[in-house]
Amino acid sequence: MMKIAITQASGQLGGSIAAHLIKKIGKDKVIGLARTPQKAAHLGCEIRPGDYEDAKQMESSLQGVDTLLLISGNTQPDLRIPQHRNVLTAAKRSGVKKIVYASIEGPLEGTLFSPIVQSNRTTEADVKASGLKWAIGRNGIYIEPDVEYIESYKSSGIVRNCAGEGLCGYTTRDELAEAYVHLLIDDSLEGDVYNLHGMAISQVQLVDYLNETFGTHLTYESISVAEYAKDRTNELGDLLGGIVAGIYDGISRGEFNRQSDYEKVVGRPHIAWNDYFKSLN
Ligand SMILES: NC(=O)c1ccc[n+]([C@@H]2O[C@H](COP(=O)([O-])OP(=O)(O)OC[C@H]3O[C@@H](n4cnc5c(N)ncnc54)[C@H](OP(=O)(O)O)[C@@H]3O)[C@@H](O)[C@H]2O)c1
Repeated sequence: MMKIAITQASGQLGGSIAAHLIKKIGKDKVIGLARTPQKAAHLGCEIRPGDYEDAKQMESSLQGVDTLLLISGNTQPDLRIPQHRNVLTAAKRSGVKKIVYASIEGPLEGTLFSPIVQSNRTTEADVKASGLKWAIGRNGIYIEPDVEYIESYKSSGIVRNCAGEGLCGYTTRDELAEAYVHLLIDDSLEGDVYNLHGMAISQVQLVDYLNETFGTHLTYESISVAEYAKDRTNELGDLLGGIVAGIYDGISRGEFNRQSDYEKVVGRPHIAWNDYFKSLN
C-alpha cells in the first residue's frame, strides 16, 4: 500500500495537512512524523518519531514510505539547512520516491527575514538535486496570528507595523493543507514551484476585516522599519523579533505581492478574505 508521511505532525500546519490527507486517502496510508510523537496522537494515524536533528531515527521512521512532506524547520537559518539535509538524506536511504517541500515566499535580500528565505531557497535547491521526484510549495503569510492577536490590538486600538501600503498575499493553514494534499498525490504537479496564497491585501484592508469581524474601531499606523524592528526585538528577542520586522519590511517592498499558483494546484480559488472573516463569526 502506498504510504505518505508528514513531518511536524505535532505542529499546526503539519497536523492540518495530515488531517486533510487522512480525509482524502484514509488513515492507513498516512504516517505522521513528530519530534514529540505524543503531541500528534490525536490525528488517529500511525505516528513515528521524526526529529530533524536525528538522521538515523528519521531513516528508520521512513521505512516503507513512498512520498514525504518536509515542512521547513523553525530554528535559526544556519541550523535549518543541515536539519533539512538530515531529512533528505534519510529519505533517499530509506527508499522514499517523492518529496514535497513546504517552503516560504519572501524577500531574498535586504531584510531581517532574508536569511530565512535564503536558507529555504538552499533547501529548495537540495530538494531539486536530490534525484527524487519533487514538488515545492512556497507558503504565503499566515493570517491567523493577526486574528489571534485581536485582544492585544484592542487594548492599544492600533495595528502598528512597517508594512505601509504594501500588499501581502496572506493564507491560512487549512488552505495550505488542501494545497499540500494535491502536491502530495497529484503527479501532474511534480517538478515545479508554487506560490500558495490568497488575494493580496493591505494592512488597512486587513484592519477593516478585523473591525467588521470583531466590532472594533482599530486604526492602522505605519512606522519605520528601524522603529518596528526595535519594538519587536524588545518583545520577542533577536531571532523572532527580526523575522517579524523583516516580514513587514518585505511586505512594504512588495515582496509578498506575487502571482499566486493556488488555483492551479487545488483546482479552485483560494478562500476569499470576505468569506474567511465571515466564517469566524
Ligand atoms: N507562513 C508563515 O506565516 C509562517 C509563520 C510561522 C512559521 N512558519 C513556518 O511554518 C512551519 C509550520 O508552522 P506551524 O504554524 O505549524 O508551526 P507550529 O505549530 O509552531 O509547529 C512547529 C512544529 O515544528 C516542530 N519541530 C521543531 N523542531 C523540530 C525538529 N528538530 N524536528 C522535527 N520537528 C520539529 C515542532 O515539534 P514539537 O511538537 O516537538 O515542538 C512542531 O510540530 C514552521 O516550522 C515555520 O517554518 C510559517
